[in-house]
Amino acid sequence: MTQAYRARILSFDAQATPSNSARLDQDGLLVIGANEQGRQVVQMVGDYNLLADEFKSRHADVTVQHLPDRIIAPGFVDTHVHYPQTDVIGSPAEGLLPWLESYTFPEEKRFVDVEYAAQSASFFIAELLRNGVTTALTFATSHVASVDALFTEAQKNSMRLITGKCMQDRNSPDGVRDQPSSNGLHDATEQSLIDTELLMHKWHGVDRLGYAFTPRFAPSCSDAQLRGLGELAAKYPDVWIQSHVAENVEEITWALSLFPQARSYLQIYDDFGLMRQRAVYAHCIHLDATDRALMQSTGAAAAVCPTSNLFLGSGYFDYRAADDAGMAYALASDVGGGTSFSPFHTMLAAYYVGRATVKTALFQGGQPKLGMSLSPQNLWWQHTTGAAKALGLEGVIGNLAVGCEADFIILNPQATPLLERRTARAESLDELLFAMIVLGDDRLIEKTVISQQLAS
Ligand code: GUN
Ligand code: ZN
Repeated sequence: MTQAYRARILSFDAQATPSNSARLDQDGLLVIGANEQGRQVVQMVGDYNLLADEFKSRHADVTVQHLPDRIIAPGFVDTHVHYPQTDVIGSPAEGLLPWLESYTFPEEKRFVDVEYAAQSASFFIAELLRNGVTTALTFATSHVASVDALFTEAQKNSMRLITGKCMQDRNSPDGVRDQPSSNGLHDATEQSLIDTELLMHKWHGVDRLGYAFTPRFAPSCSDAQLRGLGELAAKYPDVWIQSHVAENVEEITWALSLFPQARSYLQIYDDFGLMRQRAVYAHCIHLDATDRALMQSTGAAAAVCPTSNLFLGSGYFDYRAADDAGMAYALASDVGGGTSFSPFHTMLAAYYVGRATVKTALFQGGQPKLGMSLSPQNLWWQHTTGAAKALGLEGVIGNLAVGCEADFIILNPQATPLLERRTARAESLDELLFAMIVLGDDRLIEKTVISQQLAS
C-alpha cells in the first residue's frame, strides 16, 4: 500500500561533505511503497510542486497526509549501545573498570534468565523507537538467551537491528564469563565460538536482522577466543564485528600487559584478523597516527560515544585527527555508560567534545588550536546517513533517498514552548537543526515509522 506525506522533509546528500550534506524541502513530498521484494522503501522524495504531477498521475487514489508544521527526517542509527545496560544508566564510578565491576557485570548476570532478558529487550526496543532510533548495533550479554530475546523483539517490530553474543572467556566474574558445555565436551572458549556460529546462522539475514561477532574487549578475551573469532570473521565477511578499544587509560595499560607483543591496543584486533569493513570499534579515544591509518586502510569504523566518554571520564574523541586520517566514524549512545537514548543528547555532547579540543591541545603543550564547531548538519549526518555508511548500510538505511528502506521519524518542532519559540526564529537550516539538537529530546519525536514487509 502506497503512503504519501506532504511536510518539511530532511534528507542528506550521501556524496557531499557532512557539514554541507543536509537538504530541507520546505514543502516536500515523501512517497513510500513496496519494492520488488515487498519491502517498504522511499519511492519519491523532494519538492512537492516539482513532484506533484508525476505523483498524481501514478497514484491518483492515494490520499496525501498533509503535515505542514512537521519535519519528516530519516530514523536515527545508533552505532554502539548495550541493551542489557538500560538499567545501569547513571551509575557513578571512578572510571570504566570499577564501573564494569560494580554495576555492569552484576546487572548483566541477570540475563541468564530468559524472562528477564525478554522483558528488558522489549523495554529497550520501545525506548529506541520512542527516541527515534530505527537501527542499532547493540551488545547483548554472554548468554545465548539474551541474544535470542533481542532478535525476537526486534523481529516483532520489523526493525533492522544487529547484535551478537558477548565473548568474554577470561577476566570476567562468574555469571558473565563464558561457560564450558554442560556435557563437558567443550571448554568455555570452544563453546563460546560454537554458540556464536549457531546464533549467526540462526539470525543473520533473517528479515532485517544482522549478526555481529562481539568480543567484549581484548582484556576479556583469550588469544584462542580472538583467533577463533578472526577465523569466523574471514569466513563470513558480511557479518559485523563490534568491540571496544582505547577508551580508558587503565584499560589500555591492562590490554597491553595481556598482549605484550602488540604495538598498540588497536593492533591486537588487527593481529587476530578483526579489522575490516563492517568492524565497529567503540570509543577510539586514545589512538595514535598509526592506529588511525590502520582504521582507514582496513575500513573499520569508530563508534563515537560522547555522553559515555564524558560520564566515565574516559577522554575526548579527536575529530580533527580522525578527519585528517580519513577514518570512518559515527555517533553512538553507548547506553549504559552513555547517559541517554536520545540522539539529540548525543549530538549535543559530540558538539561539546569538538569544542573541548582547544583545552586539551593547550594542556598537551601543542600549538593552541581553536575548538572545533562541528556543524549541525555534520552532527545529524553522523547519526543518520554517516552512521549507515559506517555500518556498510549506505543506501539501505539512514536517509530519505529513493530506494532507502522507509524508516523515518516525524518531528514536532512545537513540542515544547521553548522549542516552538526558538525554531520559529531559525533563519537557516543550520539554525533550525541546531535548535533541535540543543533543545530536543524524546518529546520532539512525534512518531517513529518502521519499514514493513508487505506481501511480495
Ligand atoms: N569495555 C568493555 N566492556 C564495556 C562496556 O560494557 N562499556 C564500556 N563503555 N566499555 C566497555
Ligand atoms: Zn560499549
